[in-house]
Amino acid sequence: MATDATDDAPLLLAFPDEAALAQALARELGAALALIDEHRFPDGEIKLRLPPALPERVTLLRGLQDPNHKLVALLLAARTARTLGARRLDLVSPYLAYMRQDMAFHPGEAVSQRIVAGFLGELFDRVVTIDPHLHRINSLDEVMPGSRGIALGAAPLLGRWIAAQWPGDTKPLLVGPDEEAGQWVQQAGAAGGLAGIVCTKTRRGDRDVTVELPGHTLRGRAVVLVDDLASTGHTLVQAARALFAQGVASVDAAVVHALFRGDALQQLRAAGIGRVWSTDAVAHETNVISVASLLARALRQA
Ligand code: R5P
Repeated sequence: MATDATDDAPLLLAFPDEAALAQALARELGAALALIDEHRFPDGEIKLRLPPALPERVTLLRGLQDPNHKLVALLLAARTARTLGARRLDLVSPYLAYMRQDMAFHPGEAVSQRIVAGFLGELFDRVVTIDPHLHRINSLDEVMPGSRGIALGAAPLLGRWIAAQWPGDTKPLLVGPDEEAGQWVQQAGAAGGLAGIVCTKTRRGDRDVTVELPGHTLRGRAVVLVDDLASTGHTLVQAARALFAQGVASVDAAVVHALFRGDALQQLRAAGIGRVWSTDAVAHETNVISVASLLARALRQA
């Protein structure tokens, strides 16, 4: 059920399953918060109910983990918000889905990144997200019309968190499981004063990856795997196996987006990964770092 919204203040709209991050963000912004009521019909259709009168400036929070029905909900919510009075409508999507399919790897494949980013750019005046998976492009501007995309980075938060877990002089080595992770290892390392290396990953299927380490001596080292996201967990599991085969002392893992589908977390544990840390960009039991201030700072400047 929608809750109170004031007429003139900026309003944060969110869905009940993201209420925790929404409350933290509303607090940081000093904004009123209203929850959208969503009803799912037996056939999968959805009905949304927003506060009946909206202020001119509205920010909608919706992470796109489990994206398919949420993209339809965003279409309904954005169009409804405009008819209810929102003139400036921003989307905060801490996890932006569909960013990995950034080219047609085989003839005829949909380039989902371009299509989904374009869709959101048409619905919203600004789209604020965290560490979208940009590999073959440098910025969201390349796929979102009118410079509407704002991509924030949470890897420095991971780096500072990791460094704080080793208060002494001996620090862990950051390891990126694939070349795309090089950017997050570099940013986390710079923020936490930590060295890092990057592996080479070969993906043959959703759950079929191999990870090769670069030729460093790792025996006895404490290692932390750093990546933007973990979904099936296979990337982290294979990286951990390769690291233990090299004789590392311990492997922990830190990710920005804790998607962790199915038994992914158990698989990480079974592979010997000790501690698993994530930001609350995606709500999950491994969350230890809040992105609320990062988002609020960007929204104030947007
Ligand atoms: C892709 O390169 C990403 O950075 C992640 O490494 C990947 O998506 C993780 O997926 P999974 O956990 O299913 O291996």
